[in-house]
Amino acid sequence: MIKIVTLIGARPQIIKAAALSRTIKQQFSTRITEVIVHTGQHYDANMSKVFIDQLAIPQPDYNLNVGSGSHGKQTARMLEGVEDILLNEKPDYLLVYGDTNSTLAGALAAVKIHVPVVHVEAGLRSFNKSMPEEINRIACDHVSTLLFTPTLAGLKNLQHEGFNTDFRGNYTSDKPGVFHCGDVMYDNSLYFSKFSANHSTVCHDYHRVPDGFILCTIHRDNNTDEPGKLEALFSTLVRVFEITGKKVVLPLHPRTANVLERNLSSALYRKVRQGSAITLLPPVSFFDMIELERNCSLVMTDSGGVQKEAYFFRKPVIILRNETEWVEIVEAGAGRVCGTRHEDILAALETFTQTPPVEFPDIFGDGKAAEFICNTML
Ligand code: UD1
Ligand code: UDP
Repeated sequence: MIKIVTLIGARPQIIKAAALSRTIKQQFSTRITEVIVHTGQHYDANMSKVFIDQLAIPQPDYNLNVGSGSHGKQTARMLEGVEDILLNEKPDYLLVYGDTNSTLAGALAAVKIHVPVVHVEAGLRSFNKSMPEEINRIACDHVSTLLFTPTLAGLKNLQHEGFNTDFRGNYTSDKPGVFHCGDVMYDNSLYFSKFSANHSTVCHDYHRVPDGFILCTIHRDNNTDEPGKLEALFSTLVRVFEITGKKVVLPLHPRTANVLERNLSSALYRKVRQGSAITLLPPVSFFDMIELERNCSLVMTDSGGVQKEAYFFRKPVIILRNETEWVEIVEAGAGRVCGTRHEDILAALETFTQTPPVEFPDIFGDGKAAEFICNTML
C-alpha cells in the first residue's frame, strides 16, 4: 500500500483530480490511499464545492483556506500549510496538477523535506515567462521525481531542457522518471460526457439550440487586467454576434467579473450587460460546461482546459492568447492563436465557419491516463 497526498486548489485542478480519485476507487483501492489537500486558492462554491460534489471527489481531508492574495503572499501561506501536512502525513508522494500557485507551493514544500513530487501535466511550455503559470510549471518540473506529460510536445520540451526521458530505474528528483501518458482531462471528458446531458439544463435554461451559439471564456490576467485588451476582446465578441447572428455565451470567471465594469468603457459595459449579443453567466458546473461545449458551434477562450475540451468535442477553437501550450491543436488545424487582435479573430471565425475542421487526431491519449499514473506510482 502506498499513500499519496493530492494537492488541489484552483478549479481546473479540482476537475483533474476527479480522474485519479475515481481510478483509485475503482481499481487501486487496496493499493493506494489518497489524502486530499485543498489549498483554498479557489473558494466560491461555484469554483470549488460544485466540482467536488458533482464529480464525486472525496471531501478534502484538509483545507488550508488560503484565499486570494498577491502571488507571494498566497504562495507563502500555502507553503507553510502544505509543509505541516506533509510532515504529519508522511506520504510516499505529493501529487500536483498543472501550473497554478498551488502547484508551485506544493512542489517546493515537498521537495525540501524529501517527499517525492509527482507532476501531472508536466512539460507544457508557453515560452513566455511573463505568465505566472510558466514560472510555476518550470519550477515544478525541475523538482519532480515523476513527470507525466499529456502530449508529445510536453515530452519534447522536457528533452530540450535536459531531462533524460528514457531513464528507467530508481527515480529521484535528480534522476526523475518522465512518462508520456495522455491527458487526465481527456479521461474526464470521455467519462462525464456520458452523464452530463441528464444532469444539465443549461442549454434549455438559456434557450440555446445545438450549433446556435458560440462559447467563450476569458480569465487570463493579461487579458482581464489590461483595459485596452479587455475592451478589444469584448467589442470583438459583440462583432462576432453581429456577423454570425449567434449569441456568445460567456460563463464569467470571478477575476473577470470583478474588473468588467472598471475596465470596459461605460458604453461597451452597458451593451454587454444588456445581453443582446453576449449572455453572461456565473461560473457553471462541469456538466453544464460539457453541454455548452458539446452544443456550441465554436469556442473562443484563453483557458488551457477549455481549449482542450473544445478539441475533445470536435469544435474549432479561437485562442485568445498570443501563444499556446497545446500546440498540437493548432497543428491539427482545429485551433488558431489570435491574441486579442480584432482582425485575426474575425479572420479565424470566417475560416472556421466556411471550412470547419474535420480531423481531430488522438493527441491526448486513450482516456486511461489516470490508470497509467497509478500503475507507475506503484
Ligand atoms: C488561477 C491560476 C491560473 C488558472 C486559473 C483557473 C495562478 C497564478 N493562476 O488564476 O493558472 O488558469 O486559476 O481558473 O495560480 N476569486 C474569487 N473567488 C474564487 C477565486 C478567485 O472571487 O473562488 C477572484 C479573486 O478576486 C482573486 C481572483 O479571482 O483575486 C484571481 O484568483 P487567483 O486564484 O489568484 O487566480 P486566477 O485568475 O483564478
Ligand atoms: N469550467 C467549468 N465551468 C466554467 C468554466 C470552466 O466547469 O464556468 C471548467 C472547464 O470545463 C475546464 C476547466 O474548468 O475543465 C478549465 O478551468 P479554467 O478555464 O478556470 O482554467 P485553466 O484550464 O485555464 O487553467
